[in-house]
Amino acid sequence: MQTVTILGLETSCDETSVAVIRNGKLLSNIISSQIVHEQYGGVVPELASRAHQKLIVPVVNEAMAKAEVRKEELSAVAVAVGPGLMGSLLVGVNFGKAFAYGLGIPFIAVNHMEAHIYSNFIDDPVPQFPSMNLTVSGGHTQLVLLKDEFTYEIVGETKDDAAGEAFDKVAKMLNLGYPGGPQIDIYAKKGNPNAIKFPRPYATENDFHFSFSGIKTSVLYYLRDNKLRDTEIPEQLLADICASFQSSVVDVLVQKTIRAAQQYGVRDIAVAGGVSANSRLRDEMKKAAEKNGLQLFIPKFEYCTDNGAMIAEVGYRKYQRSIFSPINATAIANLEL
Ligand code: KG4
Ligand code: ZN
Repeated sequence: MQTVTILGLETSCDETSVAVIRNGKLLSNIISSQIVHEQYGGVVPELASRAHQKLIVPVVNEAMAKAEVRKEELSAVAVAVGPGLMGSLLVGVNFGKAFAYGLGIPFIAVNHMEAHIYSNFIDDPVPQFPSMNLTVSGGHTQLVLLKDEFTYEIVGETKDDAAGEAFDKVAKMLNLGYPGGPQIDIYAKKGNPNAIKFPRPYATENDFHFSFSGIKTSVLYYLRDNKLRDTEIPEQLLADICASFQSSVVDVLVQKTIRAAQQYGVRDIAVAGGVSANSRLRDEMKKAAEKNGLQLFIPKFEYCTDNGAMIAEVGYRKYQRSIFSPINATAIANLEL
C-alpha cells in the first residue's frame, strides 16, 4: 500500500493548529489558542493574523516532530482556505502553498465548515452515508445532509446569529469573558434550566432554519427589566440565566436535528463545531437520538473547536480522489459549502 502522509493547517480564526495524518491515522494535532484576545472580549482580526504569523512555523515543527515525520515524507499539504478572517486565513494559505510548492507536492484547499463535518470521521466508528450533520460554531449554524463523500445538501441554516455567536454575546452581557460558550456551560451546571422561559424560535415550524438573535435579545430585555445590567448578578440567578438561555438554544438545535433526520430518512446524525463541546447539547442530543432510534456521533473535545486534524482528514480524503488545488488558489473569507 502506498503511504499517504498529509499535513493539515488551520488558521481561520484564533487557533493556530497543525496536524499530521498518515494512511487515515492521526499522528499529531497541535492546537495553539491565542490568548491575546481575552482582554478585548472578542477576537481582534489584526492581532489574530499577527499571532498566526508568529506561531505557524513553531506549530508546524511541533506537529511534525510529534508525528515523527520528516517533511520529505509528506504527500500533500491541506489548508483551510475559508470561511474565516481574511488576514488569519492568508497566513495558513500562503505558508501552506509555499511549503507544498517547495517540496513539489500537491496543495489541497479545504473548506473549514466541510472540515468540521469530517471531525466525526477522524476516529472510528464513523457515520455512514447519508447522515444528517449539525455544524454549530462561532460563525455558522447549519444542518447539512451528507449524501455521500463530498456531496452535500444544506437543509437549514441560521437566518441571523450563529449559535456560538449567541453564546458569546450573552456571555458578554453577563460579563463572563471571551469565549463565552464554555463559561455559560460552566455556570449553567449550577442553574435551573426552567427558571426563566426564554423563546425557542422556529422550534416547532416545519423548516430547518434557525434564528438565535431573538433569544439573545430576550436575555437583554430580562436583564434590563430586572435592573441587572452592569451590576453584580447574584451567583444563583446568574447560574439560572445561563442554564435557561442554554436550554433554549439546545432545545431548538436538538428538535430540528432529529426532525431533519426523520424527514430525510437517515439513521446517523452528527454534531460538530465549537458548540458541540457544550455539555447540555451533548447530553440532550444523546437522549433524543436514543429515544428516536438514531445513531449519534459527536467528536472528542479536541476535535470540536477549530483544529488541524479535521483539515488533514479532508485533505487525506481529497488526496485519495486526486482533488488538488492550483497554486494560485487563495483564501476566501465568505466561502460557502
Ligand atoms: O468551531 P469554533 O472553534 O470556531 C468557529 O469556527 O467559529 O467555534 C467557536 C465557538 C465560540 O462561539 C464558542 O463560544 C463556542 O464555539 N463554544 C461553546 C462551547 N465551547 C466552545 N459554546 C457553548 N458551550 C461550549 N462548551
Ligand atoms: Zn470552526
